[in-house]
Amino acid sequence: MTTKAVTGACVLAQFSRSYATQGGMKHYKVLVAGGGTGGLAVGARARRSLGAGQVAVVEPSKEHFYQPLWTLVGAGMKRPEQSMALMKDLVPSGLDLFEQGVREFDPDKNNITLTNGEKISYDYLVVALGIQLDLNKVEGLVDALKEDKTVCTNYHRDHVKKTFPAIQSFKGGNAIFTFPNTPIKCAGAPQKIMYLAEDYWKRHGVKDRSNIMYQTALSVIFGVPKYAASLMKVVERKNIVLNLRRSLTSVDHMKKTATFDLLDKKGEKETINYDFLHVGPPQCAPDVLRNSATPLVDVDGFLDVNLSNCQHIKYPNIFGIGDCTNIPTSKTAAAVAPQTKIVMTGISEMMAGKPLSSKYNGYTSCPLITDYNHCILAEFGFNGSILETFPVEQGKERQTMFYLKKYIMPQIYWNMMTKGVWNGPATYRYIMHLGMCC
Ligand SMILES: Cc1cc2nc3c(=O)[nH]c(=O)nc-3n(C[C@H](O)[C@H](O)[C@H](O)COP(=O)(O)OP(=O)(O)OC[C@H]3O[C@@H](n4cnc5c(N)ncnc54)[C@H](O)[C@@H]3O)c2cc1C
Ligand SMILES: *[C@@H]1O[C@H](CO)[C@@H](O)[C@H](O)[C@H]1NC(C)=O
Ligand SMILES: *[C@@H]1O[C@H](CO)[C@@H](O)[C@H](O)[C@H]1NC(C)=O
Ligand SMILES: *[C@@H]1O[C@H](CO)[C@@H](O)[C@H](O)[C@H]1NC(C)=O
Repeated sequence: MTTKAVTGACVLAQFSRSYATQGGMKHYKVLVAGGGTGGLAVGARARRSLGAGQVAVVEPSKEHFYQPLWTLVGAGMKRPEQSMALMKDLVPSGLDLFEQGVREFDPDKNNITLTNGEKISYDYLVVALGIQLDLNKVEGLVDALKEDKTVCTNYHRDHVKKTFPAIQSFKGGNAIFTFPNTPIKCAGAPQKIMYLAEDYWKRHGVKDRSNIMYQTALSVIFGVPKYAASLMKVVERKNIVLNLRRSLTSVDHMKKTATFDLLDKKGEKETINYDFLHVGPPQCAPDVLRNSATPLVDVDGFLDVNLSNCQHIKYPNIFGIGDCTNIPTSKTAAAVAPQTKIVMTGISEMMAGKPLSSKYNGYTSCPLITDYNHCILAEFGFNGSILETFPVEQGKERQTMFYLKKYIMPQIYWNMMTKGVWNGPATYRYIMHLGMCC
């Protein structure tokens, strides 16, 4: 066992066991399930603070995606490759990577089983499995996405490549954009692509011949009243038909129809012909969590954690981060940023035998792109509290926020977030406020 002469390391060392193997089983101080946005960030951070060989990430995909870029890919502003990097190029040396899925959790024995049957034990487990697309919940959707060039979704690593060609080849008629009746990541994404498509069609003379519809399961355009008010102006300006409380149940790509449940009229449905269809697909907790027999998850299958410190409600040595948790805030990469710090702080405090000190405010953010030049940067926390970073009216459509989204945020992601050194803008907000009063 090696002990680094840095502050805190000696405290951590007295809690460490032998980390190579235990009874033939690999053992890690910190084991991270999932190597997406949250898993990679917290894995890199834990590796830096605990040293080489003490931390592992379990991730079946060879590729890592910066999903927030998919809105720009769908609008033809970025190439699909720009949203992807290979896991092996992102994982820092000294952070072990298992190219496997987690098949089973055994939180009572501090074990996980991988899809290849191998078991790994841990002192601390971080669950970062994301949210799963549930395409089969909409009858005919999988076929339609495969067979019909006019049906697309920015939510899928492959189908996102269809979006821009579908926008380009649209020659008028009904353009339908849907928002599902399930939990969702980046709740703004289903409408951002609509605003971009509208702008594209306007520039290319197709707008006059088109009927753009937003079919959403929600009863409002957006969950936070301040930004909903701004977005309603955008919807009106662009002549978009806003149909609330609709949930897509089936797509028939032969007849080119989409059928919706009317959520406020039990048993009633409506069927609409489409010439273009962008689907905000139904989503659910990952299978491995939903199907787990242990009390790891809540009734919906999401990891049951304490919203202030990301610690599991029943297993104190388990933490959750990102979309797979039941933290009641909008599921975004922006929310993962402060959670990365909270999770690592919590693990360090537990290792030192201290009570947990973090108090997450629910910070999350959604850059609501409204055309090829403008964006409303929504930033909020629990219960819709406004947590804005910039000393300007953020409810307005701004070019600066568009450039932030298009050029700055990808840099922050690849250079800071994946390395576990980005905590979100809270630090900057604090400095800025000091600057303003001093
Ligand atoms: C179209 C779109 C637009 C978006 N726009 C924005 C935006 O503008 N701003 C923003 O902040 N966020 C945005 N997001 C949301 C953001 O991408 C997610 O909230 C963020 O990636 C969540 O991180 P995560 O680690 O929880 O999940 P993910 O990054 O999805 O990672 C989950 C990982 O778990 C892995 N996994 C799954 N099952 C298993 C298993 N059994 N074993 C091991 N590993 C497994 C997966 O392969 C995946 O790598 C957008 C998302 C989409 C789809
Ligand atoms: C892992 O699980 C096995 C049983 O499946 C158990 O014997 C073993 O003690 C567990 N390992 C740890 C470190 O708890
Ligand atoms: C969450 O953690 C805080 C701080 O440790 C604690 O006071 C609170 O009771 C916890 N909440 C739940 C639901 O366990
Ligand atoms: C949100 O508001 C409700 C009702 O006022 C309150 O009970 C709850 O504690 C709040 N949640 C958070 C996380 O602040």
